[in-house]
Amino acid sequence: MSLPHRILLIEGHPDTAPERLNHALANAYADGALAGGHAVRRLVVGTLDFPLLRSQNAWQNGPVPEGLRGAQGDLVWAQHVVIFFPLWMGDMPALLKAFLEQVARPGFAVGPEGASPFGPKALGGRSARVVVTMGMPAVVYRWFYRAHSVKALERNILGMVGFAPVNETLIGSVESLGDKGTSRWFKTLEKLGRGAA
Ligand SMILES: Cc1cc2nc3c(=O)[nH]c(=O)nc-3n(C[C@H](O)[C@H](O)[C@H](O)COP(=O)(O)O)c2cc1C
Repeated sequence: MSLPHRILLIEGHPDTAPERLNHALANAYADGALAGGHAVRRLVVGTLDFPLLRSQNAWQNGPVPEGLRGAQGDLVWAQHVVIFFPLWMGDMPALLKAFLEQVARPGFAVGPEGASPFGPKALGGRSARVVVTMGMPAVVYRWFYRAHSVKALERNILGMVGFAPVNETLIGSVESLGDKGTSRWFKTLEKLGRGAA
């Protein structure tokens, strides 16, 4: 039995409709995590109000948008972060990328300007999981497309700010899962939640 963890779920789907598979998967993970005695917070990116980041100067010197200050606090609070998103045009939806660009600021998620990239990581000591749904079979995304966009998120974004380990769950052929396939994935996510994995 693992010790209780503080888990942050980031739901990166721009569409907040509850019938979206991504939200149902996040619900299953949250149910498992709560049943396992863990503390859970949820950020639904589609409900947050923030502008696009438009310049390096704004990134380095501008204030974090008011609507995202709580998100930064949640990241600091969390020991384990799970990011859910649907694959859109081979990558995370633009809204999720926009969220990450705004939140991962110098001095918060990455070292201040001029700091060594090999220095201590701002969000170090945290683990993460990336859960991605897609229309194509997951095996095609992993082996033909080499899962390049998920690797970029895991290594270039999460790895760079200190998350380790970063694991992934790729859920493919979503249109043909059927009730049986969907409930199998819910069970898998519930189990991962219980183990804070
Ligand atoms: C704008 C858009 C782009 C998409 N691009 C891809 C893609 O590149 N590859 C793929 O396998 N599926 C693609 N899909 C299918 C989605 O990944 C799929 O509908 C989603 O994972 C289902 O989860 P949801 O019910 O939470 O939306 C796309 C869907 C949309 C709406």
